[in-house]
Amino acid sequence: MSVLRIDREDPIAILTLERPDKLNALSRELIDELLAAVEGLEAAPETRAVIVTGAGDRAFAAGADIAAMAEMSPAEAKAFSDRGHRLAASIEQSRMPFIAAVNGFALGGGCELALACDFIYASDKARLGQPEINLGIVPGFGGTQRLARRVGVGRARELCMTGEIVDAQEALRIGLIDRVVVGADLMSMARATATTIAAKGPLAIAALKRTILRGQDVPLATANELEATAFAALFGSHDQREGMRAFLDKRQPKFEGR
Ligand code: COA
Repeated sequence: MSVLRIDREDPIAILTLERPDKLNALSRELIDELLAAVEGLEAAPETRAVIVTGAGDRAFAAGADIAAMAEMSPAEAKAFSDRGHRLAASIEQSRMPFIAAVNGFALGGGCELALACDFIYASDKARLGQPEINLGIVPGFGGTQRLARRVGVGRARELCMTGEIVDAQEALRIGLIDRVVVGADLMSMARATATTIAAKGPLAIAALKRTILRGQDVPLATANELEATAFAALFGSHDQREGMRAFLDKRQPKFEGR
């Protein structure tokens, strides 16, 4: 039985983690299904934005599956971590924007899955954190790195070392999430943003994702070169011509991703 629901509502798609009785904990199976789903959507040009959320009203994902991890050997743990990293990278390097709609607990691997998304909307009931330290381990799906890049090294150290779980307001305050929404409105807000972005030029959105991601890890001058190259590469595309012509003609542009 599948543990991931995929709803294609082109131009947007919704991925729903479906293990509510286990607070959507990320089992190997769920990670594999997520990887396959991202790969499948990547190859479907009609899909232009993706929302990731959790089934039920308690959790986005309460972490990597502790029952599955309990007896892992170091080699098995490395393979599991590599798989989680592959999933996070496939989201981060996707041509499409991913919005995490955090509807409850986003802990450990759940928080890391959200951190791999372009931005994070959370319900006012959401609670986030990296409590791996309480299990005698460290985050394994990118938490030590993406969390630090988002909230700063000091706060990331504090969150990871104390295992503290923060509520949505505190997560917003420290920049861990981007927006807090009343629970009932979370999906409609995520859908509205996904639909807005899906109407933009897909080439420009993909270029934005790539440039912002790569620019984080290189000196500013190199990052600005990346930007100039991305800017120039869009000229001559149908979407650049259409976008500018539409402005001059005082009409809405129709982007086609070419
Ligand atoms: N892995 C596997 N199963 C998990 C899980 C995880 N990360 N998080 C929750 N579950 C399971 C519980 O074992 C329980 O299953 P059961 O009903 O078969 O016993 C079910 O989900 C409900 O969780 P429960 O702990 O009973 O709910 P709660 O409301 O008392 O507590 C949490 C909620 C989120 C505080 C608690 O589940 C928790 O601390 N989870 C682990 C968080 C964590 O350490 N994540 C990092 C993992 S690397």
